[in-house]
Amino acid sequence: MATKDKLRVGVLVSGRGSNLQAIIDANEAGKLDAAVVVVVSDVKDAYALERARRHRIAPAFVDPKAHASREAFNEAMAAVLTEHQVGLVCLAGYMRVLSAGFIHRFRHRIMNIHPALLPSFPGLHVQGKSLHHGVKFSGCTVHFADEGVDTGPIIIQAIVPVFDDDTEDTLSARILKYEHQIYPRAIQLYAEGRLEVRGRRVFCKGSDSERPIKEGWRYIHP
Ligand code: GAR
Repeated sequence: MATKDKLRVGVLVSGRGSNLQAIIDANEAGKLDAAVVVVVSDVKDAYALERARRHRIAPAFVDPKAHASREAFNEAMAAVLTEHQVGLVCLAGYMRVLSAGFIHRFRHRIMNIHPALLPSFPGLHVQGKSLHHGVKFSGCTVHFADEGVDTGPIIIQAIVPVFDDDTEDTLSARILKYEHQIYPRAIQLYAEGRLEVRGRRVFCKGSDSERPIKEGWRYIHP
């Protein structure tokens, strides 16, 4: 598919941007009918902005401190995304809560990646919390964002085991590997127009069965 015909994706970031990189790589490998057209950060020196520059994607820093309220700050972000005619917004390590106005404006057009099996362990520092709690399995979730914190309809989850000798770092790395697989996958399903949200549940159009668990994945029909 020619780049001009692809779904235009805007990615919101706060940090290193490895999920952003996985999305860019999937597109450059010809696996995505979607292209990142702008990367928006709330952190001026986020490494994710450097990744954007390296791939000739527009980088944008929107300064939270330059706005009187979260609403005003999110309005400024929305203006950047609209200017780039974004069809899908992907949160990739974006560490702030979005305003209700922003969610409303992009309803079911905002995805988030979270390093836990939601609805367990929403919020921040969740790999450490999962380990401390003693769970035997963890994983990651791609979901549509709603007004809550990590509460929106779930698109794909991947499961990983938690081992006795795990540290926060080893568990985070095991989960991250799957984040990099399921996020591009969810975006591709969206780009194909196959995701249908019914209440809290997300179904994949064009399939009447789910694939069995494969390599620790469970996702709605690929
Ligand atoms: C990822 O593990 C992502 O799931 C998590 O932050 C990391 C960002 O890494 N997101 C959250 O915790 C959101 N609440 P990255 O910048 O390398 O993609």
